[in-house]
Amino acid sequence: MIKKGIILAGGKGTRMSPLTKAVNKQLLPIYDKPLIFYPLSILMLAKIKDILIIVNKGQLNQYKKILPNGKNLGIKISYLEQDKPRGLPDAFVIGEKFIGKENVAMILGDNFFYGQNLTSKLLNNTKLKKGAKVVLYKVQKPESFGVAKINKKNQIISIKEKPKKFLSDLAITGLYFFDNNVVKYSKKLKPSKRGEVEIVDLLNFYKSKKQLSADLIGRGGAWLDTGSIEDFYKTSAFVSAIENRQGFKIACLEEIALNNRWISKKNIRDSISFYGNCDYSKYLSKFL
Ligand code: DAU
Repeated sequence: MIKKGIILAGGKGTRMSPLTKAVNKQLLPIYDKPLIFYPLSILMLAKIKDILIIVNKGQLNQYKKILPNGKNLGIKISYLEQDKPRGLPDAFVIGEKFIGKENVAMILGDNFFYGQNLTSKLLNNTKLKKGAKVVLYKVQKPESFGVAKINKKNQIISIKEKPKKFLSDLAITGLYFFDNNVVKYSKKLKPSKRGEVEIVDLLNFYKSKKQLSADLIGRGGAWLDTGSIEDFYKTSAFVSAIENRQGFKIACLEEIALNNRWISKKNIRDSISFYGNCDYSKYLSKFL
């Protein structure tokens, strides 16, 4: 079972400027919570308790105000800084010590997942022992993402970052599962023309060793984008529609921790006094 997870939550944030001049993108709201709650909830649903959040240099204090150390969620959150956006695989170089000898999951700080059976899919993917696994999702504009072409057996035939020419409509989402070789392989990568080490190069490395597999999220699941301001509003609208219809919150971290039996009612009380008088606290009080 994969027990460690990384959230990569740095980045230039240029596409969202001026919103991101003073505040990191992952701390901006998706409806009623900061964006970072959503990828964190995904790792927690995958029963991953040991979590490294990689943030931009100088932004650590912003994050610690909202997610200090994970204690009250029954998890362990540690932080490391990335001094500049060197590319996604840089996370495994920065996180080398954190990863140690274990396998690791990584989720990008701006990725949103939702849907029935998601938890069982996640738990299944954390069983990975050898190689790497990506999660694919059909999209209308594949040219905006990393893309994978698969055969009838769901094996990956080829992958490409933001292909100009159509390759497939399956986007590679920002959720990855890797064996421990990821550290060694990431260190070998050379920056591409845009000056970053590329996740597709890392995945191609695994593919060349026939160690890359894929999991598919079907049309009943949602993988939404938070790349632009427009996407932020669309994702917020999605969360608002579901939450207000059902009365359940998406990505309520304390609820997930309680369901996982990682925390007690005392922790819920502590969270309520931490967040103060707000809708999120009102929701938490239902669990007392
Ligand atoms: O969202 C899925 C897509 O994410 C994949 O389909 C692509 O294959 C993958 O390259 C990536 O594409 P993006 O264009 O969305 O990557 P972006 O540079 O916007 O970075 C994604 C997140 O990672 C964002 O929250 C910022 C953070 N980041 C990025 C880089 C390059 C870092 O924290 N450090 C970095 O060095």
